[in-house]
Amino acid sequence: MRKCAKCSEKGVIYLPQHRLALCKTHYLEWFENRVEKTVKTFSMFSKKDDILVAVSGGKDSLGVWHALWALGYKVDGLYINLGIGEYSELSEKKAKAFADKIGRKLHVVSLKENIADIPTLKELQDRPACSICGTLKRYYMNLTAKKLGYSVIVTGHNLDDECAVLMGNVLSWNIEYLVRQYPVLEEGNGFVRKVKPLCLVSEKESAMYAFLSGIDFVEDECPYSVGASSINYKLLMSKIEEESPGTKLRFYLEFIRKVRPMLAIKKDLHLRPCQVCGEPTTSDVCSVCRLRMRLENSKAEMRRDF
Ligand code: AMP
Ligand code: FES
Ligand code: ZN
Ligand code: ZN
Repeated sequence: MRKCAKCSEKGVIYLPQHRLALCKTHYLEWFENRVEKTVKTFSMFSKKDDILVAVSGGKDSLGVWHALWALGYKVDGLYINLGIGEYSELSEKKAKAFADKIGRKLHVVSLKENIADIPTLKELQDRPACSICGTLKRYYMNLTAKKLGYSVIVTGHNLDDECAVLMGNVLSWNIEYLVRQYPVLEEGNGFVRKVKPLCLVSEKESAMYAFLSGIDFVEDECPYSVGASSINYKLLMSKIEEESPGTKLRFYLEFIRKVRPMLAIKKDLHLRPCQVCGEPTTSDVCSVCRLRMRLENSKAEMRRDF
């Protein structure tokens, strides 16, 4: 390993796309500066905002919580317990331990207590678990932030996540999703502002930051994520990146700078409050309330059968 570009210590990481070797201290500093620059470039939030970080217990979300806390932002955490056995229990434990370590609040929402756990909902619907889960996570993130008075929601999506989504949307030219792909989703229409401060750091860089910061994170992936197409896109992108460092960053940033503005025709989504829970939706009753109704019906059917 080369020497650190900032001091004479031995480097612990080499960043090929930036042609930079750094020691532990300077890597942590580099990463936090990059996060802060991203926050400022995209006007995500300020030191006055009460920020809620959605944490899964993994390296990215605990890492972004740590970096924002170290930079002096007011950041608390939200963990949504999905009820996926051991995986969810261990993730909650690690998120709680991390919150205690940095002395910030962790709010916990249990799907089982609010609607039903993911394995039960998966049985009910003929949709992949991750798609039901994504809808529920977005719903409870927004609802909880509003209830508790947070003005911004942070998620731990990194550059690899964003590139995989971008690739998926480009391959099917999904213009509606492409328009919405941006590091900031503005508040309004019942939605709290949502931002992705790690969108310009790669998965490897994020993992290294969590590791060097001494964060105890969950290494296992969600058991339902096996076979997701995004994993293939990530592998493909990483292969291209290996041969041509900087490709991921270019792919994402040039989309944001050049392509997205051409697509950004304001689309009126006709959002209105859900007639049952009041959260924003494009139909009369939101998808989470419809899911809850289906669950109630299936329970009633089961009671009749017995
Ligand atoms: P994923 O959709 O699993 O790739 O996660 C993307 C982001 O959503 C993570 O970086 C977290 O910020 C957030 N997230 C994922 N799972 C949870 C969870 N169980 N509770 C709260 N936030 C989560
Ligand atoms: Fe939600 Fe996998 S089903 S994280
Ligand atoms: Zn150094
Ligand atoms: Zn609803």
